Amino acid sequence: MDFELKTLDLAAAGREKADALLVLVPEGFEPGAARGRAPLAQRVADAIAAKALDPAKPGKALAMWRPEGVAAERVLMVSIGQGQPRRVQQAVAAAVTGLKGSGAQRLLVWLPAATGRDAGADGGAALRAAMAAVRDASYAYTATKSKAEPRELRRVVLGVADAQSLREDFRAAQATGLGVDLARGLGDLPPNVATPTYLAQEARKLAKAGGIRCQVLGPKEVEKLGMGAFLGVAQGSREPLRFIVLQYQGAPATQAPVVLVGKGITFDSGGISIKPAAEMDEMKFDMSGAASVLGTFRALAELKPRLNVVGLVPACENLPGGQAMKPGDVLTSMSGQTIEVLNTDAEGRLILCDALTYAKRFKPRAVIDIATLTGACVVALGAVRSGLFAADEALAGALQAAGESALDPCWRMPLDDEYGEGLKSNFADMGNVAGRMAGAVTAAKFLQRFAGDAPWAHLDIAGTAWRSGAAKGSTGRPVGLLVRYLLDEAAAQGSGTKSVRVSGKAQTARATGAKTGAAKPAAKRSRARAH
Ligand code: BES
Ligand code: MN
Ligand code: ZN
Repeated sequence: MDFELKTLDLAAAGREKADALLVLVPEGFEPGAARGRAPLAQRVADAIAAKALDPAKPGKALAMWRPEGVAAERVLMVSIGQGQPRRVQQAVAAAVTGLKGSGAQRLLVWLPAATGRDAGADGGAALRAAMAAVRDASYAYTATKSKAEPRELRRVVLGVADAQSLREDFRAAQATGLGVDLARGLGDLPPNVATPTYLAQEARKLAKAGGIRCQVLGPKEVEKLGMGAFLGVAQGSREPLRFIVLQYQGAPATQAPVVLVGKGITFDSGGISIKPAAEMDEMKFDMSGAASVLGTFRALAELKPRLNVVGLVPACENLPGGQAMKPGDVLTSMSGQTIEVLNTDAEGRLILCDALTYAKRFKPRAVIDIATLTGACVVALGAVRSGLFAADEALAGALQAAGESALDPCWRMPLDDEYGEGLKSNFADMGNVAGRMAGAVTAAKFLQRFAGDAPWAHLDIAGTAWRSGAAKGSTGRPVGLLVRYLLDEAAAQGSGTKSVRVSGKAQTARATGAKTGAAKPAAKRSRARAH
C-alpha cells in the first residue's frame, strides 16, 4: 500500500480520481462562500444544512454514490467533532472498515486544516492518526490461508491544506506503519511457523535490508554466557532457543544507545505448571514484545534517526516435557543471582532477566523491556493502555508522552519496594513469583533486580498486544509508542537542549544515564551528556 501526501483544498479533492473519497468534517466546518462553491463543498454544506450530517457528532457518516461534479466513485463524509487525533482515528477506521470487500483500491482521505479548539495546532498528529487508522483497518492476514484475500487498498492519498509543513509527520507515520504491519504479521503467524529460528531469520532479513547489524546466538553461546534462567525455560522444548542482537547506529559510536528488550516466547503453554486449555492458542502472541522490537527496527531502517539503538530478543518456547524445568528447580542467572522456579508459567521474567543482564555491556542510556508478561496487567488495565513501570522520572515521562502522541497509550504503575517482598525464597536468592496480589507489579519488581544502573522501564503489553474473540489478532502495539519515543530522543539529542519533546506537554529533565563505576567510554559519555 502506497501513501501519498498532497496539498488539496476541497475543490481539488473533488477533482481527484479515486475509488473512494473520505471527507473528514469538523465542527464549525466552513465550506467557503456560497457563490462559485465547488460541487463537493456544496454537497457537504447541503448535508450539514439538512442535518443529514452533524459534524458535532463524531463518527457519524454519510455515504454517496457518484455525486455530480465529483471524480471519486464513492464519497463518505464523516464527522470528527473537534478534530482531535483520536476522533480522526475512529472516523477513518470506521470508514475504511466499511470499505472492506468493496474492491476499492484507490482511497483519498481529505483532512481539513486544523480547526476547532483542540484540533490542534497539531495537524501532524491528526495526519499520523489518519494514516495509522487506514493501515490498521485495511490489514489482512494471508500467510496461512489457502485462498488469500490480501489488503485491497493499493494507493492512499492524504489531501491536506499544506503538505510541506506535514512532511516529517508523513514520513514518520509511513515508516511506523511498516513497523506496525511487520509486528502484526509476526504476531499473527502460527507458533509452528513463528519459531525462535524463524524470528531470527526475520531479524537477519530486516537487518540486511536496512543497514542494521544482526547477530544470532544459539544454545551453545547462550550457555557460555551463563544465561541459566533463559536456558531453564528453553530446555523443555525441542525447538532450539535463539538470542537475537540487533544494532542500529544512527549516531557516533561514542553515543550510548537505547536498548530495547523484547520477550520472545513463541508459545507459552505454561510448562509443567501448565495452563488451562481455553484460549491457550493465544499464547502464540507471547512473542509480541519481540515482534514490537523487530517492528521498531523496521521503522528505524526507514527513518534513520540520529540515535543508537540496540534490540535484544531472547526467543524460545515454554513447553512441558521430560527435560522441562520443574517447580522447585533453582536456576543461576547470568547476573549470578539464583532463582527458585515456583511456577514454570512465570517464564517471561526468566528469559528477560538474562537479557537485561546482557544489556549492561552496551552501557546504555536507557533500557526498555517490552513483554506480554502478566495476566494481572490485563485485569488492571484491560486492552486500552499498556502497563508502564519505571523508577526514572524522565524516562517514564518520555514514554508516557510518546504513547499519548502516538495514540498508543500506557499508564504508569508503582514500584514500591514493599511489592518485592513476596519474591523471597528459602532455597535461592529469590523465587520467580510472589503471591496472588499485584501480579503485574511483583513481576516488574523481579525484573528490576536485574536492571542495572541505567534508567530502566518495563512495558507490560499483555492486554494491548492482541485482541481476543471474533477480532482475534495482533495489534502491532507498542511499535507506535516506541518509534515516537526514539524519534523524540533523537530530536532532543540533536538540539542539545535539556528537553525538547515533540510528543507532548510533559517537559521532563533528561535522563543522563550516568553510571557509577562505569567503564571508561560510558563515563566519558555521561559527562559529555551532562550539558
Ligand atoms: N504470557 C503470560 C502472561 C499472559 C497471560 C498474557 C494471559 C496475556 C494473557 C505469562 O508468561 C504468564 O503466564 N504469567 C503468569 C504469571 C503467574 C504464574 C505469576 C500469569 O499472569 O498468570
Ligand atoms: Mn507463562
Ligand atoms: Zn508468557
